[in-house]
Amino acid sequence: MREFVYEKPGGVDVIKKVEKGQPKSEPGKVIIKASFGSVNHVDIWGRMDLPGQPFPRVFGSDLSGYVEDPSDSIFKKGDKVVLYPMKFCGFCKNCLAGNENSCFTRALYGVHTDGFFAEYVSVPASNVLKLPENVSLEYAAALPVAYTTAYHGLVDRIRMVPGSTLLILGGSGGAGVAALQIAKALGARVITTTSYDWKAEMLKKIGADEVLRLDEKLAENVLRLTGNDGVDYVFDALGGAYTNVALKTVRKGGKVVNMAMTAGSEIQLNLRQIYANNIDFLGVYLGTRKDLFDLLNMVSQGRIKPLIDSVFPIDDVDKAQLRMEKRNHIGKILLKF
Ligand SMILES: NC(=O)c1ccc[n+]([C@@H]2O[C@H](COP(=O)([O-])OP(=O)(O)OC[C@H]3O[C@@H](n4cnc5c(N)ncnc54)[C@H](OP(=O)(O)O)[C@@H]3O)[C@@H](O)[C@H]2O)c1
Ligand SMILES: [Zn+2]
Repeated sequence: MREFVYEKPGGVDVIKKVEKGQPKSEPGKVIIKASFGSVNHVDIWGRMDLPGQPFPRVFGSDLSGYVEDPSDSIFKKGDKVVLYPMKFCGFCKNCLAGNENSCFTRALYGVHTDGFFAEYVSVPASNVLKLPENVSLEYAAALPVAYTTAYHGLVDRIRMVPGSTLLILGGSGGAGVAALQIAKALGARVITTTSYDWKAEMLKKIGADEVLRLDEKLAENVLRLTGNDGVDYVFDALGGAYTNVALKTVRKGGKVVNMAMTAGSEIQLNLRQIYANNIDFLGVYLGTRKDLFDLLNMVSQGRIKPLIDSVFPIDDVDKAQLRMEKRNHIGKILLKF
C-alpha cells in the first residue's frame, strides 16, 4: 500500500509516496480503508519546521473510509466511518470531562504524530465514528478539523444563542465557511469577510447576511452594520492585526474566540479594551468527539451541507496544497484515495 510522507521540512517537493506493508490487526485498534481525505491549513504549517513536529512523518488529519478490520471493536467490516483527528489518553482530567481536545498528552494526527494519509490506516477504536446512513464519505471527510473546531468555538466556547450577530474574520477558508454554515443553522445573523469578490459572491449564496472586505475600513464597516453597538461575537480565524479588529468591533459584554494565527501570532493588546468592556476572550483548539458526532447528525438532517471547493486524486495532494497556499479555494478541498 502507499502512504504519503513529509520527508523533511520544506515546500510541496518534500511530499513523498512510500510503499509499505498493510497494518496488522491489533486489539483495541481498527483498520480503515481510506476513501476521502481533506486538506487543512495545518497540513501546510505541518510541512514547516515548527517545534513538536517529527520528520519524516505520514501527514493528513481528515479521513473517511470503510472498516477493513474491526478487531475486537464494536464496528463491523464495511462500516462507513470518519476519524477523530486527536490522539488522547482517555484518563486525564480533561478527557474524563469529555474534552479530549484539551487532553494533557494530546497530539494531532498528521502534525505531532503520524497521520492518516495512507491506503490503510490502523487507529484506536475510540477515534472512529460511524456515519449516519445518508451521510456521504465526501462530506464526512470535510468535517473533522475545520467543522469540529468551528462547532466547538461557537457552541461549546461562545455558547451562541439564536438571534445574535456573529462576525467571522477569515470567512472563505475551510474553518471560516464552517463557522458561517454552523452559525446560520443556529439562527445567527452573520457578517463574514474575504479578500476576493468571487468568494464574497459565493459566501452570500451559501447564507452570509453581509460580506465585508478585509481592508482598512473593516472595523468601521462592522460598526456601521451594527448601529455602532458592535457584534455579539467574533470568530477570529485570522489572528495578527485582525484580532485587534475583533476587540474593536465586539459589543460590551461580547465574546471573541480566536482559533488561528494565519495573519500573525504576536500582537499588541490593550488590556483595557478587554476588561473595561467585559469581553470574554477565548481560544479554541479542535473540538471533541461529541462535536464531530453532532456535526454528522446536522449533515444527516440536512442542516449543514459542507462546501466542497474541489476534489483532487490523492496522488495530486501537492497540487491540492498549492491551491490552498495560493488562496484559490473556498471551503474544503477533498482528496480521493
Ligand atoms: N485552532 C484550531 O484547532 C484550528 C483548526 C482548524 C484551523 N485552524 C487554523 O485556522 C486557519 C484557517 O484554517 P483553514 O484550514 O480554514 O485554512 P484555509 O482554508 O486556507 O483558509 C484560510 C483563509 O484565510 C485567509 N487568509 C489566508 N492568508 C491570509 C493572510 N495572510 N491574511 C489574511 N487572510 C488570509 C484566506 O481568505 P481570503 O482568501 O478570502 O483572503 C483563506 O481562505 C489556519 O491558520 C489554521 O491553522 C486552527
Ligand atoms: Zn487525556
